[in-house]
Amino acid sequence: MFDANFIANPYPTYHQMQANGRLHWIDFAGGAWLVPHYDDVMAMFRDARFSGARADLFTQQFPEDQRRQLREFEEITRLWLAAMNGEEHLRLRRLLNKAFTPRVVEAMRPRIQRLTNELIDEFYAQGEVELMHQFAHPLPAIVIAQLLGVPREDRRQFVGWSDHLATFFSSPKATIEQGRAANDALVAMRNYFRPIVAQRRQQPCDDLISHMIAVEEQGDMFTEDQLLSQCTLFLFAGHETTRNLIGNGVKALLDHPEQLELLRQNPDLLQSAIDEIVRYDCPVQLIPRIVTEDLELFGQSLKQGQILQLMLGAANRDAAQFPEPDRFDITRSYKRPASFGFGAHFCIGMPLAMMEIEIAFGTLIRRLPNLRLAGPAERSPNVTLRGFHTLPLAFDTVQAAIEEEQLVAV
Ligand code: HEM
Repeated sequence: MFDANFIANPYPTYHQMQANGRLHWIDFAGGAWLVPHYDDVMAMFRDARFSGARADLFTQQFPEDQRRQLREFEEITRLWLAAMNGEEHLRLRRLLNKAFTPRVVEAMRPRIQRLTNELIDEFYAQGEVELMHQFAHPLPAIVIAQLLGVPREDRRQFVGWSDHLATFFSSPKATIEQGRAANDALVAMRNYFRPIVAQRRQQPCDDLISHMIAVEEQGDMFTEDQLLSQCTLFLFAGHETTRNLIGNGVKALLDHPEQLELLRQNPDLLQSAIDEIVRYDCPVQLIPRIVTEDLELFGQSLKQGQILQLMLGAANRDAAQFPEPDRFDITRSYKRPASFGFGAHFCIGMPLAMMEIEIAFGTLIRRLPNLRLAGPAERSPNVTLRGFHTLPLAFDTVQAAIEEEQLVAV
């Protein structure tokens, strides 16, 4: 399942799995059950017998002496919202919801629009761009920096840290070196945020860290360690995914020029185009769940502690939910894709991500006419977090259009 052909296009394999059963055992990170159907994925998101990923899910595969080297990784991720369950998760999520309100997200809109224009200005005159590094990486990284209230100049640092985490989380057979790199990245992130949090306690601003410090519910508030951990989670979750959605979406449009043209001619289709982009080639392909008790499911015996991988990318191509699922159709009537999860752990950042991509796609399409591939697009060799490493593009600039008109006139 993990060869180059699969990375290039996993969807035929997903369809085979869907045709051949509802649960498949695979040797992925120590063994896991794969769940490829939409209805099953959505049901399991809400089923208490399958809990959210524990902190040690990624470290338990190593022998004890190696695992000790990942102590801080476990310490920090154990406090991540995403790694908590039940009452504890609910309590923390309620606090975060109070800090991360629609008002906080909406206030970002003009800044995201300005930033999008600035990034395009930087490459516009050349008539070409390597979209991933010049646009898709910096946009969400700077947005999350602004949201948290940290200097945007530091983004190269935290994109680097975040990449180490992404590699570790999504390697089918992670090595201890990858684990150590992720551990060190998390420690660096925590050390980075510590003085910033201390400073915000003295002088609050209108940013997420200050809002997290300020929230209190029935005497309940974040501890220092919880707060620092959520900062590292937001930094990681806030840009890796959005970056890949931008790349995957642009490539899907370029692969379907008639759909791109339809969108150009009908900008009011932007919202449904984005819904289709989110469905068609989603950036988070697998989400782990842990079996909390021995049970029988679809004729298989599942053991407590085993891992289930909910296949969001496969669920979004399930023909039972999405007719002709491999057809990219920006006029498709909306049906909730699995891309942002569901249930208690449903992505808290979805409104921000959707706003970012609405602005990104709206602006790219408006400002870059005749957008086209300018070389081979290279996929990241990553099964879980699906995206491009490079996406070289060319487009017509206003200058080019003027010169062309002059040529025609001569
Ligand atoms: C295209 C962009 C994004 C995608 C596809 C995405 C996807 C997801 C998915 C599938 C989950 C569910 C995890 C689970 O059930 O275990 C999730 C959770 C989460 N996401 Fe996102 N995400 C995106 C953007 C963001 C952004 C921009 C932020 C932060 C600003 C964010 C923060 C989070 C957090 C904190 C959680 C954990 C929620 C909880 O455990 O209660 N995400 N995301």
